[in-house]
Amino acid sequence: ATYHVILTGGVGSRLWPLSRKSQPKQYLEIFKNDSLFELAIKRNQKFSDGLIVVGNKDNRSLSISSLKKLGVNNYHEIVEATPRNTAPAIAFAAFQVKPDDILVVTPADHIIKADENYDHAVSKAIKLAEEGNIVTFGVKPTRPETGYGYIESDGQNVVSFREKPNLETAKDFLHRGNFLWNSGMFCFKAGVFLSELEKYEPKVFEASKEAFQKSEEGRLDEALSMDIPSISVDYAVMERSELIKVVNADFEWSDMGSFEAVYDYFVESGYPVDQEGNMVIGCDKFTAFVGLKNTIFVNTSDAILILSKEASQDVKGVYQQLVDEN
Ligand code: GDD
Ligand code: MG
Repeated sequence: ATYHVILTGGVGSRLWPLSRKSQPKQYLEIFKNDSLFELAIKRNQKFSDGLIVVGNKDNRSLSISSLKKLGVNNYHEIVEATPRNTAPAIAFAAFQVKPDDILVVTPADHIIKADENYDHAVSKAIKLAEEGNIVTFGVKPTRPETGYGYIESDGQNVVSFREKPNLETAKDFLHRGNFLWNSGMFCFKAGVFLSELEKYEPKVFEASKEAFQKSEEGRLDEALSMDIPSISVDYAVMERSELIKVVNADFEWSDMGSFEAVYDYFVESGYPVDQEGNMVIGCDKFTAFVGLKNTIFVNTSDAILILSKEASQDVKGVYQQLVDEN
């Protein structure tokens, strides 16, 4: 069987104050009438015989009401006690099914145009996964983004995978031309993923297995979860495995991961910026920028953020500071 695994455990800290623990970006309806979470469920329904939602106890009720709204009643839930990043999150889903089952793993927070190009890419990925590959989706890069993974490709073959390079390296990758952005979606057999995880990160594998086996109705125990090293699938498996293949993601794709990505998406959609590239989000008052370039002003009911577009990756520092203080 083929399962859609939706990862919805992140808080989107780089989009603070739009996104926060109580209202992560994937449930906000600010981009379309549906939330990004709902759109992700809808566009993957046709490929899958079942759905596995991997989220956490803080956003569980948001997932449940979204699924109800969509009329999706039949799904399996994995409720994390604490986020341990994407490698353990995917492992839980993989332990849930049979080794030969195919997992189509997607984030919950992307904007994707679900047209025939999307369907074609996913179908191709499923086919490659059935042959035992770990499939990534490669997006043509348009800027030296440091928040993404880069896939050095030779057709469908992957020469190397590099997660979140520094700016200099990202510029070099862009220049060299045969690098694609990792879209953050993956497709593989559950058993193939688990054996690669066991091979490269035995501790993550063992601790995730232990926590999964002792979970009750998909709810993970907090103490056992704390024993799982927190690591993303990109560092744990994608950078090291030799089974990686890439499918061209020649569909419209945007990760709403940072204000830079939101800014680019908004500009492409015709959202206004002034002559110096300054943008106002969430404020109806007349706002003027003097002596500033590429500045984003973000207004919400209880917090304001003013940032330089180039510093978008650093917003999570503010979020972290607020978490630490409270
Ligand atoms: N259940 C669960 N538990 N989900 C999680 C957790 C967790 O602990 N941590 C993150 N997620 C979810 C997020 O909500 C998001 O939907 C997805 O997993 C990816 O996590 P991010 O934290 O957004 O990753 P990233 O954006 O830094 O990097 C990934 O995506 C990029 C493209 O958007 C990587 O795969 C990069 O290589 C890739 O370029
Ligand atoms: Mg992301």
